[in-house]
Amino acid sequence: MAKLTADALREMYLKFFESKGHTIISGASVIPENDPTVLFTTAGMHPLVPYLLGEPHPAGRRLTDVQKCVRTGDIDAVGDSAHLTFFEMLGNWSLGDYFKKEAIAWSFEFLTTKLGLKPEDLYVTVFKGEEGIPRDDEAIACWKAQGIPESHIFPKGREDNWWGPAGVTGPCGPDTEMFLDTGKPACSPDCGPGCHCGKYMEIWNDVFMQYNKTAEGTYEPLKQHNVDTGMGVERTICMINGYTDVYESELFLPLLERIRALTTNELPEEKRIRAERIIADHMRTATIILGDPKGGVKPGNVGANYVLRRLIRRAVRYGMDLGLPAGFTAEMADLVIGVYKGFYPDLLEKRESIVAELTAEENRFAKTLTQGRHEFEKVADVMAQHGQTQISGKTAFKLYDTYGFPLEITQELAAERGMTVDVDGFAKAEAKHKEASKQGEGVFKGGLADHSEQTTRLHTATHLLHKALKIVLGDHVNQKGSNITAERLRFDFSHPEKMTKEQLEQVEDLVNEQIKRALPITCETMAIEDAKASGATALFTAKYGEQVKVYKMGDFSKEVCGGPHANNTSELVAFKILKEESSSAGVRRIKAIIGEPALEKRKAIGK
Ligand code: SER
Repeated sequence: MAKLTADALREMYLKFFESKGHTIISGASVIPENDPTVLFTTAGMHPLVPYLLGEPHPAGRRLTDVQKCVRTGDIDAVGDSAHLTFFEMLGNWSLGDYFKKEAIAWSFEFLTTKLGLKPEDLYVTVFKGEEGIPRDDEAIACWKAQGIPESHIFPKGREDNWWGPAGVTGPCGPDTEMFLDTGKPACSPDCGPGCHCGKYMEIWNDVFMQYNKTAEGTYEPLKQHNVDTGMGVERTICMINGYTDVYESELFLPLLERIRALTTNELPEEKRIRAERIIADHMRTATIILGDPKGGVKPGNVGANYVLRRLIRRAVRYGMDLGLPAGFTAEMADLVIGVYKGFYPDLLEKRESIVAELTAEENRFAKTLTQGRHEFEKVADVMAQHGQTQISGKTAFKLYDTYGFPLEITQELAAERGMTVDVDGFAKAEAKHKEASKQGEGVFKGGLADHSEQTTRLHTATHLLHKALKIVLGDHVNQKGSNITAERLRFDFSHPEKMTKEQLEQVEDLVNEQIKRALPITCETMAIEDAKASGATALFTAKYGEQVKVYKMGDFSKEVCGGPHANNTSELVAFKILKEESSSAGVRRIKAIIGEPALEKRKAIGK
């Protein structure tokens, strides 16, 4: 039988749900927009949060898409047979339209008629209920109606069958997960769907979003009942084709084959396989991030930039273990682009900048390693002078963490000088560091867009600012990025030079004028080409014919945007620019605040 490819699976899934009345929409950027709580898009539902909360979606109530997701919480687990830092999630969505009956019937139909799975091999889990929330009998009845026998339906608790909220608050609810029995022997009498021994493989998750978790920790019924489903592309093709691990698919093979061809160091098999997988996984994710249409993430030291740096450097380090030649990251990027260019044409357009960034980071890292070697020599010299022969775990870890020096290299260099390394101390220092960075990452791991009134208003302020900048500086100004926290907005835009004090004052005054004018904010849905023809500013490329929302702020600004926004510009109270600085070559950055604090600050300067 012909292998199921990712291209074929995406097409089959989208067409199937289109035939069930869903509109196919473009997946969102992997770099979240206006969401301070996460570094990357982590699930298909993530960009759709405003619509799950009740905002009307321009494409209707039944949607289907493929969403690029990045999850780096488990980065250290990459290298086994299943963990990936990048994956694609297929999803179908009901925004207050159909619910459990249809969702389950269509899941069953797709699995059996499209993916060709035998009904008798399917197992499902459902929410067993807890205090205040009943067992999901409705889901059980729906599965039975499809012919799934009771012996294949497993009610389970919150750990298994409750999804969300992705952050602290937001939409959530019971889910039902579908599993395939691979026919392998059970690992124990307790083995069942949800067991990780490999007998049962999870295929799909249908989430029934009925609740909104509030900041107080209570569950209130959502305005509308939604369905959010998620099927992982990599995992599904692995399972349908009977691969033993996700790396066997056409998404990874070209990379692995090339890595093997370039390898010059022989490592023990287990180590070699892990290194190959880490390189393939990390280079794929790095290429996707650098090639994202929204852009703006570059290797750096904080936030998403740091995650990207870590991915590249980790790949380079394992590349060194295998003895891959310098410049191999560029080759890897070309292979990734080759695999994905059909579905993500932006990658091809951005090829040059992707390769340039990777090569630059690879070179920077090589330099860092040389510095690490100097650092090692310095430490070892001092120790020798004091007659010490054991390098402390703390020092070895610093070399590893700051200079990317693998412990093995430190050990080798130490041995050359007749010294040893405190390996236990190294492990302790590493564990301590991991704990700390986990806590740091926790903030970003899940997290939903914060759609509080304050962030909504700050988002509205970015539209006014964008337009004011175009008026004062010229039409070459375009948004390059935006980031909103509860306190302030940050807005990046194209402009070749530092703004003058006068220009800043003009822009600030212009925005405040619009706030004083109390302009009504309205929203209209139209096809992207009509939106552009009407003169609306459109930032990111939506597909031809795709329905988009156009937000109008009186006669002042008109932009294609997902929203949500304030209802009237007067809600912003006042607008004050705090800072204008360079962001990168040809891109400036403004930080600004709104509300009472902005009003106070304006008053203080006599405005
Ligand atoms: N949100 C759910 C998940 O991430 C289903 O799409 O699994």
